[in-house]
Amino acid sequence: MSASGARHVVLVGLMGTGKSTVGALLAQRLGCPLHDSDSLVEQRAGRTVREIFAADGEDAFRRLEADVFRDTLAAAQPSVIAAAGGVVLSAANRDALGASGAHVVWLRASPEVLAARVSGQPHRPLLDDDPLGALRQMAAARHRLYAEVACTVIDVGDLDPPAIVERVLSELAARR
Ligand code: S3P
Repeated sequence: MSASGARHVVLVGLMGTGKSTVGALLAQRLGCPLHDSDSLVEQRAGRTVREIFAADGEDAFRRLEADVFRDTLAAAQPSVIAAAGGVVLSAANRDALGASGAHVVWLRASPEVLAARVSGQPHRPLLDDDPLGALRQMAAARHRLYAEVACTVIDVGDLDPPAIVERVLSELAARR
């Protein structure tokens, strides 16, 4: 929580749930900065996520991701944080999220819906071979982790980004 008592809003969920798009719209509406964890990792590393995975492997990517994520949580100014899908894999990240007092919104959708959405988006190395199978495995492993950190769950399957933003805003208004 910031010194003023305002909180970050953190969007979590599997790849393809719209965290970056929704995050950008939400930050505009709230008049606060957006921190997109993949973009910040890429800026810090000077390479794309795909290049980091290819050259250094997933573990190295996760270390960078954790550094960036915890720095964004520590920022004094309340912001919207679009957290990459794998951020919740780390218990330390989950603990930092809990300790930050952030309002965490889980954007939830089925692997089937997400596989259709991510087709034609080639920037995610973990979805190169069998996107639906990978998303199913991730859902099985991660849904309980998203549930553990979430204050709010929004089923985004039938919603477009502006509608998701409205849902988030009404949740925030109800809880303030
Ligand atoms: C990943 C999610 C991606 C990116 C990387 C791995 C994951 O971010 O960090 O490809 O493990 O879920 P988005 O969730 O923003 O696509």
